[in-house]
Amino acid sequence: MNSRRTFLKQVYGATLALGTVSAVPSWEIAFGQGDSVAIPGEDGMLVRSARFFDLETPVEYFDRWLTPVSRFFVRNHTHEPSELSAESWRLSVGGEVEKPLTLALADVGKLQSHSVVNTLECAGNGRSLHRPQVPGIQWGKGAVSTAKFSGPRLRDVLQQTGVKASGKHVMFRGLDEVPGKVPPFIRSIPIEKALDPDTLIATHMNDEPLTKHHGFPARALVPGWIGAASCKWLTEVRVLDSEFVGNFMSPGYRFPNQPVKPGDSVKPEDTHVLTGLNVKSVISGPLDGSTLKAGKLRVHGAAWAGEADIVKVEISTDGGSSWSVAALGREQSHYAWRLWSYDWDAKRGDCVIQSRSTDSQGRVQPAAAVWNPSGYLYNAVDEVKIHVA
Ligand code: MTE
Repeated sequence: MNSRRTFLKQVYGATLALGTVSAVPSWEIAFGQGDSVAIPGEDGMLVRSARFFDLETPVEYFDRWLTPVSRFFVRNHTHEPSELSAESWRLSVGGEVEKPLTLALADVGKLQSHSVVNTLECAGNGRSLHRPQVPGIQWGKGAVSTAKFSGPRLRDVLQQTGVKASGKHVMFRGLDEVPGKVPPFIRSIPIEKALDPDTLIATHMNDEPLTKHHGFPARALVPGWIGAASCKWLTEVRVLDSEFVGNFMSPGYRFPNQPVKPGDSVKPEDTHVLTGLNVKSVISGPLDGSTLKAGKLRVHGAAWAGEADIVKVEISTDGGSSWSVAALGREQSHYAWRLWSYDWDAKRGDCVIQSRSTDSQGRVQPAAAVWNPSGYLYNAVDEVKIHVA
């Protein structure tokens, strides 16, 4: 049997074993372990799915604070809009508001702009590392990137419409082109997060207008939260009196309240919606599997913690027996990853290098991630194996 069919069988086998919460329906299952597909402007990216366009950033690009837009991971649940025009684009703001509003891009451009440097991470980042394997896009370590996002505060727009006392959640809808049976990518966030001064209607990324892959002409930017909260190609903001009901709120993007074992059945009421990101670090260099010369060696990478700040990154070069504190990079901003580095005198032999981060909430990157049926929030201590010659 060829490997693709074997993989299919494993994936469906796993889906059947998961019980009532199978958050990754069959239409989302994709193939390709970093296949190379020529995509203009996206050279060097790992293609995790060419069907809807899911591109992973290789870890070697985690060596700079702001990820260039062409190296910023891309995650699409369905097809990108085939036609997008700055002139005809409109954003409607309605629902539980006093005065519904429709904005053109020029109107959005007239509102005061605010910038947030944010590390955006897909909830499924690292899914391929969970054991046993779970279905869904088999992300390695690179469904995460950092950019400076700019645009008006969502709060300023909601202040124009006025929010009724009944307004408890804010729903976002994008212009995705949704094939037949696929549910539309619609989600909501609680009103408190929507009114946070750092939640944006972003029109720019790294000081340039958003590109199509990242949500041109405007996207929600919900900093510190899983990437799924930040709806691209935003066309509707609707204030609701309760959380939006739809596939991407349940069963999608939920996490079991209690640890579960593979094969256990999990009832939806025993799960919660994912919001903020975990504490995590990834080694950007040296690369896994590399052979290096003995002597001075710099281990470096990035660490992030969603709505918390990174306070410490530790490195082990002896497979976890002892840990040393890494130096944290100068550039920092709440919601943004922190670069780190550790200089080490490498001796000959095989070696396992590990990184472990701690955040301002006291969370520590664990030795093993919490297994869950959808493979979300993988954050085990990172490791690379190298040979020092
Ligand atoms: N918005 C729309 N409209 N459609 C999508 O499929 N994917 C979400 C989010 N916003 C998605 C979306 C997910 S799961 C993630 S992780 C981020 O976009 C990825 O943003 P990026 O592609 O700019 O990196």
